[in-house]
Amino acid sequence: MSLVITGATVLDQTGERRADVRVADGLIAAVGADLEPADGDQVIDASGLTLSPGFVDLHTHLREPGREEAETIETGSRAAALGGYTAVVAMPNTDPTQDCVSVVEFVRRQGQAAGLCDVFPSASITVGRGGEQLTPFAELSAAGVRLFTDDGNGVQDPLLMRRAFEYALDLDVTLAQHCEVERLTGGAVMHEGDCCSHLGLPGWPSLAEELMVHRDIELVRLTGAPVHFLHLSTAGSVDLVRAAKADRLPITAEATPHHISLTDEMLRTYSAIYKVNPPLRTMDDVTAVRDGLADGTIDAIATDHAPHVSETKEQPLDQAPPGMLGLETALGVSIAHLDMDLADIVGALSWRPAGIAGIDDTHGRPVQAGEPANLTVFDPTEEWEVVPAQLASKSRNTPYVGVPLRGRVKHTVLMGELTVENGTATR
Ligand code: DOR
Repeated sequence: MSLVITGATVLDQTGERRADVRVADGLIAAVGADLEPADGDQVIDASGLTLSPGFVDLHTHLREPGREEAETIETGSRAAALGGYTAVVAMPNTDPTQDCVSVVEFVRRQGQAAGLCDVFPSASITVGRGGEQLTPFAELSAAGVRLFTDDGNGVQDPLLMRRAFEYALDLDVTLAQHCEVERLTGGAVMHEGDCCSHLGLPGWPSLAEELMVHRDIELVRLTGAPVHFLHLSTAGSVDLVRAAKADRLPITAEATPHHISLTDEMLRTYSAIYKVNPPLRTMDDVTAVRDGLADGTIDAIATDHAPHVSETKEQPLDQAPPGMLGLETALGVSIAHLDMDLADIVGALSWRPAGIAGIDDTHGRPVQAGEPANLTVFDPTEEWEVVPAQLASKSRNTPYVGVPLRGRVKHTVLMGELTVENGTATR
């Protein structure tokens, strides 16, 4: 298939310019003013739109194998493509856990079969995410795994975490930590603070996140191995990472769209739609996380797309599982809620996470001839609202119904093929 996308503002890590882009045989064939379409080229008019490297999500729960009633690799990949993503890292809290080569290979193959975005499986740090025994890191890294995480839980045991860092350093892979000291969060349903006391609900203190951020920063200092901090949510965590980066430690961090747009006040509705882990925090925390993204302390925006079926999310707060959808709304939430240059927002959605995932040979590449054609075309100014029935995800647990979003994906190109055209998935 060959394609000419005309009239777009091209935005990548090299800057911004007006250019047409020709795509053929999976690659960007040419970038320039007034490109002449060749015979058989499909032409897409992108006047007024922005064209960038495809987005990369470091944190997607695809639920397959094991919880296919909530999402499958196919439905999650379609949601990703509609959100402008050309690559996602699949979290390992599946059933069975992605803790061995056969499950990791299964996830990769299902991603290829769906063909809607590149699915890069992560693997768990501990067997069954049980926190007791390390997974076969060498075998898993030989099978192409670049990120290891027990996401959904943090690794509680500091000795085990130290050993994991030592293996990771040897194998040139990255550990991604879900920062939560569980002794401090048992039974919690929301952020511990004024709102929580007022509602009389059990709280999840900021300290539970910050203690683990601090511990792992010190383990990085000791071992020299890199860490990636998942879904940072508190002002204190942002301060810790900012100081650690000033010490030149190999640390990266992400923030979710919900932690830059929603606060614990939403729990006044008692709706489990707003229950998420780590929980929605205060406006001061939201401001600190936004500031962390703006000054580069936080490297990436990652969705923590966590589909759950309605029956479970309609349960009372203490029984409902934590998590919310993110893939189809990440761009719209980010542009609406961040006071940052568009180039920096797109960097946090694309080339920066591509580097952290170790996939920056194929994703998040500059828009130049010869590069793989993984691209997103979006309208950065379109205001829109989510219609849950129109989501591609199998689940409906989005907190953004009735919330104005800004910035909407129009076309997504994966290895030269349109996966989304005019806002509609092509398969
Ligand atoms: O809210 C969350 N949901 N946080 C996590 O860490 C896990 C996720 C899930 O898998 O549902």
